[in-house]
Amino acid sequence: MSSASTHPIEIVRQHHSIHRIIKEILAELDWLREHPERVGSTWDMPVIIESFRDAARRHFEFEEVGGPFEIALADPNEAEEARGLIEDHRMIEARLCRLLAEMDGVKMPELTVEQCFDSEIRAVIALMGEHEAQERALFARVCTMQD
Ligand SMILES: [Fe+2]
Ligand SMILES: [Fe+2]
Repeated sequence: MSSASTHPIEIVRQHHSIHRIIKEILAELDWLREHPERVGSTWDMPVIIESFRDAARRHFEFEEVGGPFEIALADPNEAEEARGLIEDHRMIEARLCRLLAEMDGVKMPELTVEQCFDSEIRAVIALMGEHEAQERALFARVCTMQD
């Protein structure tokens, strides 16, 4: 089937575009740490997190239909790990939605609240990194098995 060869390539392309958004978020977090005097003014973080959430959502939907995930789910040795990775998708998406709901607007919050956002955003990004590493290993196994 034609999608079997193009699907992994598109997944890698989507990972790269998500990495670009993550780099933008980390740069913004670093900038905010260095500029605490900006508290109360407008900030870009909700818009950037929203683009992260939307890109991740589209990516997860694409990833879960066809391609390596479908192969993994049909394999008794890989299905449990594949299901765990799909649970990660739901958790990452839910945490990004909660962050967006809590950000509630375009004004930078007080420093203590901003620090809570900082640690949660960094935690979600770390989880995304661990998820992708596990996913890459799974995809390499099932795509090799398919050849
Ligand atoms: Fe994934
Ligand atoms: Fe992925």
